[in-house]
Amino acid sequence: MKILMVGSGGREHALIKKLLESEKVDEVICAPGNGGIACDARCFNVNVMDIDGMIKLAQDENVDIAFVAPDDPLAAGMVDAFEKAGIRAFGPRANAAVIESSKVFSKNLMKDFGIPTAKYEVFDKSEEAIAYIRNENKYPTVVKADGLALGKGVIIANDFNEAEQAVKSIMEDKVFSEAGNRIVVEEFLTGPEVSVLAFVDGKTVCPMVSSMDHKRALDNDKGLNTGGMGTISPNPYYSEEDAKVCMETIFLPTVAAMNKLGRSFKGCLYFGLMLTPDGPKVIEYNSRFGDPETQVVLPRLKTPLVDIVEAVIDEKLDELNIEWYDTPAACVVMASGGYPEKYDKGIEIFGLDEKGQVEGATVYHAGTKLEDGKFLTNGGRVLGITATAETLKKALENAYTAVKKINFDKAHYRTDIGSKKF
Ligand code: AMP
Ligand code: GLY
Repeated sequence: MKILMVGSGGREHALIKKLLESEKVDEVICAPGNGGIACDARCFNVNVMDIDGMIKLAQDENVDIAFVAPDDPLAAGMVDAFEKAGIRAFGPRANAAVIESSKVFSKNLMKDFGIPTAKYEVFDKSEEAIAYIRNENKYPTVVKADGLALGKGVIIANDFNEAEQAVKSIMEDKVFSEAGNRIVVEEFLTGPEVSVLAFVDGKTVCPMVSSMDHKRALDNDKGLNTGGMGTISPNPYYSEEDAKVCMETIFLPTVAAMNKLGRSFKGCLYFGLMLTPDGPKVIEYNSRFGDPETQVVLPRLKTPLVDIVEAVIDEKLDELNIEWYDTPAACVVMASGGYPEKYDKGIEIFGLDEKGQVEGATVYHAGTKLEDGKFLTNGGRVLGITATAETLKKALENAYTAVKKINFDKAHYRTDIGSKKF
């Protein structure tokens, strides 16, 4: 079997490595890929948003399955286009990917179907949003751009001025362009955050092992929101009881709701949850594997990933018993100095080795390129170093040992992944 992976990050690198573990998979190719992915898969220079280009590549290379990993091409209908061209594809169609690409859609879905989430209002005029915030007078309050904004479209405002500024920058200055035509203003929730990714084939939901992301750039959850600076799995706060409650009040109702709306979801559905004092609530949905959640969840998967991918496409998940390893995993992201704001690219990376020179470690490439035999930085998040071990403590120790063997100028990583106590 030959598989095309669409994307270029650490998530895609982890997906590719996992797919290649199966004997059934002869080859994975990737577009556009990155420096590290190029060591595992032939890479092609096709932009992730170039739908026609991807279809041509899939046809030229005669692939059996196309796997669309990032949010933007899913929202733009790349899976629909593959299907139309007669190519089997993993990922939701555009009408289901909207669960991530429009926060207004997802909030209304949750309200209409009684799925627990933060209370909210939607606005398409900034003055009305500002008047509402003034009247509510509750802080912190949360202001979210409706559309996709590279994970930066959420602002937690601690007072009226910050909230007003957030509304104006999104709706008037259009810092996230079209994504800010509408906003959601919602209640601030508290509690541990949990990421649960689930395989969904339109009927059956199979939650994967849980994980915890670390979204802020700096230690102790300081600094700006990023795509994610590190992850651990399992999430120590997510009990079996929570998992049961989530299945009944969130996972199954969400899939049923999408079906009722004629937007059947097939692919990986990501539930961003908060364990609040009133029970688990949805913070956000993503229509894809999370990054860097994938880098700690997939190493724990025992069942061949390709079998699950096929079961999702063929709507046969109910026939599969998906198994996991008990061993915990931790991932530490090494980022370019300055990320998520301005940072340099093209800096040489030293000490790289696929196995991180440490037992049980794997180095996933995110923003790298390979030039003249040298690995250079090529993005904000550069590498994700994952380790699995008998205990989470050991996994973290091993991940950090591997991180310390790698260096590049202005490299930045958090030193407190997995150490938060509530
Ligand atoms: P999102 O992109 O919707 O996941 O939001 C990014 C981050 O903002 C989340 O991971 C939370 O840490 C935080 N956040 C979003 N919505 C809320 C909320 N209603 N209450 C508290 N924190 C929130
Ligand atoms: N790590 C969060 C995300 O993938 O959106």
